[in-house]
Amino acid sequence: MSAPCPAAPLVPGHPFFHYADGHLMVEGLALTDLARQHGTPLFVYSQAALLDALAAYQRGLAGRNALICYAMKANSTLALLQTLVQAGCGLDIVSGGELVRALRSGVDPNHIVFSGVGKTRLEMRQAMQAGIGCFNVESLAELEVLNHEALALGRQAPVSLRVNPDVDARTHPYISTGLKANKFGIAHEQALAAYRRAVALPGLKVLGIDCHIGSQITDSAPYLDALERVLDLVQALAQEGIALEHIDLGGGLGITYQDETPPAADHLLAQVLQRLDARGFGAHRLLLEPGRSLVGNAGVCLTEVLYRKPGTEKNFLIVDAAMNDLPRPALYEAWQAIVPLQGHSDAAPEPYEVVGPVCESGDWLGRARTLAVREGDYLAVCSAGAYCMSMASNYNSRGRAAEVLVTGQSAQLIRQRENPDDALQLERDLTL
Ligand SMILES: Cc1ncc(COP(=O)(O)O)c(C=O)c1O
Repeated sequence: MSAPCPAAPLVPGHPFFHYADGHLMVEGLALTDLARQHGTPLFVYSQAALLDALAAYQRGLAGRNALICYAMKANSTLALLQTLVQAGCGLDIVSGGELVRALRSGVDPNHIVFSGVGKTRLEMRQAMQAGIGCFNVESLAELEVLNHEALALGRQAPVSLRVNPDVDARTHPYISTGLKANKFGIAHEQALAAYRRAVALPGLKVLGIDCHIGSQITDSAPYLDALERVLDLVQALAQEGIALEHIDLGGGLGITYQDETPPAADHLLAQVLQRLDARGFGAHRLLLEPGRSLVGNAGVCLTEVLYRKPGTEKNFLIVDAAMNDLPRPALYEAWQAIVPLQGHSDAAPEPYEVVGPVCESGDWLGRARTLAVREGDYLAVCSAGAYCMSMASNYNSRGRAAEVLVTGQSAQLIRQRENPDDALQLERDLTL
């Protein structure tokens, strides 16, 4: 990547990370100062960027009966949840662990939806006891178990059925979820029978319908196709006397990592609402479960250049962040921009493979990146707000990174760096 131009936003339309006088800034603070103060690897988030991304959804839904349930799997750090919850979001959870975090965030439990193909009985009970708003049920077997658990607690569980509309989201196969070949949801052609069964079960209260076709979707067409398929079912159900209160269209809207041009959330929603109105479903409550599009471009991961290692085939730039902090390149061959925090006039630009210290050849963060850097310089791995920290691991006994949230000129450490003692706390010496 060539030297930064002054005052340029890193991502078009996202002014919250930008260069000023050769320094990469987050809102009003220089990222180099944060790296020096807190060490690296360090995730830094812009609160303004988070709220700006949310505002696009809120504008699109203004005046509607709607709830945005942030899919916290994208990034479940407490202070980020609190930012979104305080700005009006509900939460989409997929595990008992996320339930505990969600409740800690202060969200109204009734604004929690519980997705996922493998909810355990314990998780179901805990979620019912917490009073969540809806279970998005993904199979007939799950319907029966939830009914059983609800009756045992003397309750009715609120449910919607996640329908698999068999629509190609045209995204990476690992993050496509709405095809017949995927494990998610109830097949479209089996959905009516599943609803008939659900309304017959006394422990369930059928509230809605749900679909989610994939992640990092950069085109409106698959959404609108899925919506039509879902509305066909809502119509067929109404004809059978099964009236639904809400339609949950899941998440999946993509972000700009490199040169993608996903629709803006408000523009996409205008198309969605127009279709809902045209088919007479405009009064239904609309739920959405965005994850990546709220947090993805609100965060960067700062890392220090440890070594430049010229090779015979390519040059390696060894940095202190690795696949355990930033798993997306190793997992999906994902591309994230890697830029210097300060431009150097005296370092020659060279092509590098940017790699971490983990003992795996798959531990790379960027390939063929042209950077003008020296050892000891800092870099930012961009678009690191989603599916990075929440997927981070302790592989190679590396502690997970620290996290900082910035608003204006203020920065708050929202998660301490893990040290080896933290990890060892849960282990026991051999006594056998
Ligand atoms: C059911 C469900 N809802 C919402 C999301 C969030 O998707 P995204 O982060 O792409 O918006 C996912 C992600 O896989 C999901 O599986």
